[in-house]
Amino acid sequence: MLPRRQDYGMKRAGVARSGSVINFRTTVSPGSLRRSSAVLPSVLTFAVIVASGGLLLMIEKGMLNSMETPPPRGNGRRSDYIRQVVPHNPAAVDTESQILQEIRNRTIRTMCSHKNMPHNVWSLSPLQRKTLLQHILVNDEYRLLYCYVPKVACSNWKRVLKVLSGALESVDVNIKMDHRSDLLFLSSLKPEEIRYRLKHYFKFMFVREPMERLLSAYRNKFGEIEAYQKKYGVEIIKRYRKGHAKDSSVTGDDVTFAEFVRYLLDEDVERMNEHWMPVYNLCQPCAVSYDFIGSYEHLERDADFVLQQIGAPPHVHFPERQTWYKPVTTETLHYYLCSLPQKLLRELLPKYILDFSFFTYPLPNTTTEYCRH
Ligand SMILES: *[C@@H]1O[C@H](CO)[C@@H](O)[C@H](O)[C@H]1NC(C)=O
Ligand SMILES: *[C@@H]1O[C@H](CO)[C@@H](O)[C@H](O)[C@H]1NC(C)=O
Repeated sequence: MLPRRQDYGMKRAGVARSGSVINFRTTVSPGSLRRSSAVLPSVLTFAVIVASGGLLLMIEKGMLNSMETPPPRGNGRRSDYIRQVVPHNPAAVDTESQILQEIRNRTIRTMCSHKNMPHNVWSLSPLQRKTLLQHILVNDEYRLLYCYVPKVACSNWKRVLKVLSGALESVDVNIKMDHRSDLLFLSSLKPEEIRYRLKHYFKFMFVREPMERLLSAYRNKFGEIEAYQKKYGVEIIKRYRKGHAKDSSVTGDDVTFAEFVRYLLDEDVERMNEHWMPVYNLCQPCAVSYDFIGSYEHLERDADFVLQQIGAPPHVHFPERQTWYKPVTTETLHYYLCSLPQKLLRELLPKYILDFSFFTYPLPNTTTEYCRH
């Protein structure tokens, strides 16, 4: 059921029925995460909790008996095996999304109950709180808070919010999105106003497979946006490309993915640009108890759910993908990840481990056998 977890050298040793995760014993294969020994204990804890959370739920639902272990597949999502549980049932889609939601929900609750995790906005460091509050958009009429994550359909959500507040006539109006005007950010409110809204409003966010989001940011910013090439590209090439440290002719428009990853590894996650900052740090899922966490992988369905929850009027719908949109395909992701030096990839995954574990995305298969295909 959880074949990919073994990438991490995890071995299931026992299954608790009681809801406790203590019966899980783990062994770590040497070398799997040696370079990041500082993150090792937390990585382990999270991997165990994620694995057990999902498993316990399946046990409770009596699903293990009816399930066959699917063959390992390169880019399969968890949804692939869940679909196999109920192959010809029209309710399958709902069941699948319900199970994913429950696994995610339970995982987050378990991980956030740890005493070292922040329990509200005020227990965050000032920098963490500033980042968070600057990423939460407010609509008072529909009593909602939306934590926006760049590269996860956030422009479209901002359009929806503008329509809900009357600043935009329709989500389909063909104008360039202004990411600041006509939007109310939680950071602009007073502490007591923030507190009230966090307590009483419907809070939601959307997540995406972490490496896919990263690749999407890389291709968009370094492939298309000159301001980013100037601001980050030049610096990255000077730092990481041999012989260019003092080269003033560097334009920054040809940063390779490997150079980008080297740069990420040297950055502090709390100070990263929002396009590649881990979602965990942007939205702080322990400090804010979100009512709903949707997936980019099920965007239309999850967006409909949110619109229904907040009581949006029927003419407000979630926008279609823009025609210029270039999706990151599984093949593209495979190509980029596999072309990275193994060492870089091994160091990159721990950097985004909270996004993988909190939002229950399996770690990518990075074995050389896999990359040969
Ligand atoms: C998690 O489950 C609780 C209880 O059912 C619910 O109130 C909450 O909205 C859920 N949160 C998410 C993020 O799905
Ligand atoms: C990774 O992919 C290879 C090749 O497809 C496969 O043999 C291996 O079992 C996979 N590993 C995991 C842990 O899924």
